[in-house]
Amino acid sequence: MIHQFDAVIVGAGGAGLRAALEIPEGYSCAVLTKVYPTRSHTGTAQGGVCAALGNEEEDSWEYHFFDTVKGSDFLGDQDAIEIMCYDAIRAIIELEHMGMPFSRNEKGLIAQRPFGGHTKPKDPNNPFGERVPVKRACFSADRTGHVMLQTLYENCIKKGVQFFPEFFVTDLIVQDNIIRGVVAIEIATGEIHIFHAKTVMFATGGYGRVFRITSNAVVGTGDGFAIVYRRGIPLEDMEFVQFHPTGLWRLGILVSEAARGEGGVLRNKHGERFMERYAPTIKDLAPRDVISRAMYTEIREGRGIQGPDGTYYLLLDLTHLGPEIINKKLPEITGFARIYLGVDPLKEPIPVVPTTHYAMGGIPTNVDAEVVIDDKGTKIEGFYAAGEVACVSVHGANRLGTNSLLDIIVFGRRGGKKMAEYIKERDFAPLPKDADEWTRKTVERLLNSNGKERVSRIRTELQEIMMDKVSVFRTEEGIKEAIEKIKELKERYKEVKIDDKGKRFNTDLIEAIELGNLLDTAEAIAYSALNRTESRGAHYREDYPKRDDQNWLKHTLIYKNEDKEPIIKYKPVVITKIPPMERKY
Ligand code: FUM
Repeated sequence: MIHQFDAVIVGAGGAGLRAALEIPEGYSCAVLTKVYPTRSHTGTAQGGVCAALGNEEEDSWEYHFFDTVKGSDFLGDQDAIEIMCYDAIRAIIELEHMGMPFSRNEKGLIAQRPFGGHTKPKDPNNPFGERVPVKRACFSADRTGHVMLQTLYENCIKKGVQFFPEFFVTDLIVQDNIIRGVVAIEIATGEIHIFHAKTVMFATGGYGRVFRITSNAVVGTGDGFAIVYRRGIPLEDMEFVQFHPTGLWRLGILVSEAARGEGGVLRNKHGERFMERYAPTIKDLAPRDVISRAMYTEIREGRGIQGPDGTYYLLLDLTHLGPEIINKKLPEITGFARIYLGVDPLKEPIPVVPTTHYAMGGIPTNVDAEVVIDDKGTKIEGFYAAGEVACVSVHGANRLGTNSLLDIIVFGRRGGKKMAEYIKERDFAPLPKDADEWTRKTVERLLNSNGKERVSRIRTELQEIMMDKVSVFRTEEGIKEAIEKIKELKERYKEVKIDDKGKRFNTDLIEAIELGNLLDTAEAIAYSALNRTESRGAHYREDYPKRDDQNWLKHTLIYKNEDKEPIIKYKPVVITKIPPMERKY
């Protein structure tokens, strides 16, 4: 079936929904999502969305800007970061006016709490001197993403946005650098649909499922990354993968940084508050790359706690916070600890490990969410990306907590506005012949295969090798091992067989296509990580432990090269106000 829409948005998380709200009356907009919209991954974001509102203490967007640049280990583009931090205040008030139920302080204002890496100068006259944590994260208990998603969805329904739930997008239709639409499988029927569009936005979220331990929902299979990569569009800075310090031990389920914002501390097996050694000034509120490395170091040096299965963890201690804070401000995460680990955080510390959380890299865009494919700013006309799948780049080599919910509402809106302009000015570019060919052939191959390989086996082997060799600590030898394994798994993937040959709700088939996406995304991550011979932000190379601004103050662009080694190019980092300096906390 062929549909025609002025705007097609793929993904119903915060970025996609915020963009949809910008499509003007009289123009058609479809939001396609592989899950039910309010099950999008934005709904799992917990601790907050930041803006220098100054509701609790003096703050300024410039402090936020400085923290984000420093947090990015100076790889973030400062023009984009400035837009985000400046626009944050308007964006939060807008959400409040849309009906988002924020937690309130005693003055009735939106409540704010500290979060990792968010600081202000101790002495305002010395902006580059010692900095102290600041209350900048606006929140709704520890369900901030959940209420943001519900609010945006309700506003989209009110506006009449047309949703296509459980439509799994498999391909982008693009020719001569002009977008023409997307191809999707309707999961309920197995039917292949072509969405002919003037503009397309990818807001498809992350790829956490490339790794064994992740905070990402099962939907986080890197679909958007893989689709554009296969279509010859580069991916930017894929080596930068964020590990959130506190995932529930063995499961990876997120335990919000808000727990530390509210006063929780990390301890090793001796009960020592070890972050005092690694980040003496802001300790447990250091950025995630710093804390995750510290945790791995504690475990490596024998100060982790061994569980009955032989794996190690550390402790997140909230026992001193008391029931008032825990029950009112952290109900969700403490519930998770009780349900999944049988631990009552009021009485005992929570076993935690770093968990794969967020992609700093992604589809390269400019500050208006327009996809750009090289260092000259060449666009794919009519194609936009926003949210985790995009790389603006506001997060550079390491994202600060609460900057992702901000990113999605700021750049989702900017992208939506540009789409609105584009659809008024342009006509539909014609569809190419056989626009759905890749999808049809892939589905046929998978349904008819009599190979011996199983999806779950290949996926598990991929997740294991990526977790072991391409996670918090990396070496050339380890990454090369991972690349060889990915090549082997890609070969074996050609022989994958699925049991369900039917059409309706064929989740076997969907998982098999997702596996192809995981493999392509893993390839981009591993080759980018091998190529960058320095340590910066979340990318820590034990064989190159120092940041090297001389050679590496640049963004990576990785291009798929059929079955050969990918091609790597670069583009410069935009530095406007803050020159790179030593990064310590
Ligand atoms: O820890 C958290 O609540 C996560 C927030 C984020 O990733 O921004």
